Amino acid sequence: LDGVRYTYLDLAGAYSEAYFRLPVVLRLLLENALRNMADTERDAAAAALFGWLEQGTSEAEIAFQPGRVLMHDTTSTPALVDIAAMRDALAEAGVDPGLLNPVLPVDVSVDHSLAVEAYARADAAALNLDLELRRNAERYRFLRWASKALSNVRIHPPGTGIMHTINLEQLAAVVCRKDGADGVSLHPDMMIGTDSHTPMINGIGVLGWGVGGLEAQTVMFGMPTLLRIPDVIGVRLTGALAPGVTATDLALTVTQRLRAIGVSGEFVEFFGPGAATLSAGTRCVVANMAPEYGATTGYFPIDGETLAYLRQTGRPEAHIALVGAYAERAGIALDPDAAPRYTRVVDIALDRVQMHVAGPKRPQDLHPYTETKAILQSLGFTPRARADGLPRHAIAIAAITSCTNTSDPRLLTAAGLLARKARQAGLRVPAWVKTSLGPGSPAAAAYLARAGLLEDLAAVGFDIVGYGCTTCIGNSGPLPAAVRDAMAAGAVHPVAVLSGNRNFTGRIHPDLDLGFLMSPPLVIAFALAGDAERDLGREPVQISPDGRAIHLRDLWPDEAEIDAALAAGQRPGDYRGAFRIASANPAWQALQSPDTARFPWDPASTALRRPPFASTEEAGQLGRYTAHPLLVLGDDVTTDHLSPASAIPPDSPIADFLVERGDKRDDLNVFASRRGNWQVMMRAAFYSKSLVNLLCPEAPVGHTRHAPSGGIEPIWAAAARYAQAGQPVVLVAGERYGTGSSRDWAAKGQRLLGIRAVLAVSFERIHRSNLIGMGILPLRLPEGVTPASLRIRSGDRIDIDADPAALMPRGAVPVRILRAGGGTETLLAAAAVETRLEIRLLRMGGVIPAILS
Ligand code: F3S
Repeated sequence: LDGVRYTYLDLAGAYSEAYFRLPVVLRLLLENALRNMADTERDAAAAALFGWLEQGTSEAEIAFQPGRVLMHDTTSTPALVDIAAMRDALAEAGVDPGLLNPVLPVDVSVDHSLAVEAYARADAAALNLDLELRRNAERYRFLRWASKALSNVRIHPPGTGIMHTINLEQLAAVVCRKDGADGVSLHPDMMIGTDSHTPMINGIGVLGWGVGGLEAQTVMFGMPTLLRIPDVIGVRLTGALAPGVTATDLALTVTQRLRAIGVSGEFVEFFGPGAATLSAGTRCVVANMAPEYGATTGYFPIDGETLAYLRQTGRPEAHIALVGAYAERAGIALDPDAAPRYTRVVDIALDRVQMHVAGPKRPQDLHPYTETKAILQSLGFTPRARADGLPRHAIAIAAITSCTNTSDPRLLTAAGLLARKARQAGLRVPAWVKTSLGPGSPAAAAYLARAGLLEDLAAVGFDIVGYGCTTCIGNSGPLPAAVRDAMAAGAVHPVAVLSGNRNFTGRIHPDLDLGFLMSPPLVIAFALAGDAERDLGREPVQISPDGRAIHLRDLWPDEAEIDAALAAGQRPGDYRGAFRIASANPAWQALQSPDTARFPWDPASTALRRPPFASTEEAGQLGRYTAHPLLVLGDDVTTDHLSPASAIPPDSPIADFLVERGDKRDDLNVFASRRGNWQVMMRAAFYSKSLVNLLCPEAPVGHTRHAPSGGIEPIWAAAARYAQAGQPVVLVAGERYGTGSSRDWAAKGQRLLGIRAVLAVSFERIHRSNLIGMGILPLRLPEGVTPASLRIRSGDRIDIDADPAALMPRGAVPVRILRAGGGTETLLAAAAVETRLEIRLLRMGGVIPAILS
């Protein structure tokens, strides 16, 4: 390592004792700020970070410039569509469009559009992949155009796996080495991703988190993000997990504990002796669920387990040695005995974690796995009819899905071993259960096959359905006919069991509102039972063909069995090899795409349309204005409500719109696949059965009241009438507005509806930033004020005084409610704006005008 420059350690030398009292995530942010900031700003950044030690919190801002960006197909499509449209705007202004290119590496994983149509058959993966390519061909041709026309954009085709697994297994360097004219330089690998589960990479010591697509656009064009020095919550882990307890159980427990404590928007770092006992695979599962516990990160520093993971996934030995040496020298390694200063410390004893499930509607609702029966019984569902053999809480979907729990080979191997024992006992999943195994990467197939477990999984019904997000993102395909019929007759209230991270109503399937999250082996056990109302602690999973009651304890693999199967299955070469083979996907390579600098838009396309907001005409939305409330909503409005990702209902007006333009009603695919078409996404904004509009609760799905006429209309039509009349609109909401994912369409849809400000009790971090990215002002209602207490009725108007010159981060913004019947109420909202950069973006009208300027 001689000759390597440790600029930040040189600078921090004067503070060496203080340096090691900083949490590791702040040491990394310090390094980044010092490397990327101008010389004149470095001292101030270092002083601010060390100043943090006094209070454990700070209002100071530092610049953050990650080294790379990770996106998936449904968040990258709108970002790349914006870039294509920006190139048009530049060309129209007489500027060479080819000059507009991302300056950072952008990796795009095509993973979010794989649906589970075929299942429980050996050729399911091939059939689903064919269908995916056919359904999304136009969008995928566009992605291929982008990879050719734009510098620094690399696309990982369908079949290569889920973005976070690809990041773990292929992309993450952990420490980056650069050979330059003045020698070798090393720096930690830091990144952002347009997906809320990006922190999964924190499990192997890479600092990264999820941002909105709009923030990613600023970063990929070389603008740093300004970051308030975060509060850092230290989670001290002690003890070790008991045998039989899985990484999933730990992640669900952490989610429940941290949600209860409240860590929203904060950085979480794990430390203590228990952290050192966890494998990197387990750490990644825990880190993955950071958005479920509300945190920005779930960081584990680098140690021998990290290096073992890099070795297991085929990284070169020289690089592994470099990572270990650098982490020690730079002071970013895990020291199980260290106790840095944190804003707050939370203790979790690993030996007290038990086998759990979470649900049936929220990931933080944790229960012993034996309690699904009691929970479902408490819901009081009374069947209207008897179903043919189906229990009233029949399991309709049993999915081993999601980056969360399919990237850790230990979890999939445990599932395979449980399947093996079930197969040996002659058990099989009942016909009404839709099963699926959707691993995070094709390497899983290699190690499961070599250990002989792929056959066992298939024998009980869990064939591989492909390598992508599938059920986790709601691409679960149609429910089995037996379930559909029984639901129509009112005979069942079906349940999903899955190894995913979210179970909000409609997330897994539009017709399902109950879902339990659990480990992959437990998914198989419940699938075999076929009945979510089964106490698997006491009652048998199934009666075998020879009449034996087979209990969960008869099937659950022990740790030694898992170790042996892992040793038999895993080969480091599989990771790179399987990825290379999948990347060569000939069907993908055969897709024809244009070779031009500007994308030739097809005026008849229902997938890709040039968006109106990517223009040089866009202007800031601040100022003083009096607005109509377009919608008044309650708490927990999720990004699924704001911009659904799931299947387009064939009987919806949005389906009618597409069918009028030539699409087939029975092959409309999911909303997420239409994010290149602003006309569809504008109509889809707030199109959700489970959203209640307090302005007119009786309105049909996706409708609101147009106050001047009194009529109830589709939201987009009412918004268009307001816009035509030059009447601004705003939105009022409750707590946690924008919970869920990083999808930028959740904000873009609101921009197209003309919403200038959102007044909410609180905002989720990524959505707040996306609103600002689209030039929409997020305002926090004063303490104690809620949408219900405001009693806004149709005809009331809201006067907002957002003077662009006076607006400050977290500054006061006067708001007046002008009642339709006369009278005025005044309140002082606060700008939910954190940094000066965000103020600048709001003044300019958002990210796109900023890039174009
Ligand atoms: Fe995909 Fe679900 Fe992970 S949507 S990226 S598998 S959290």
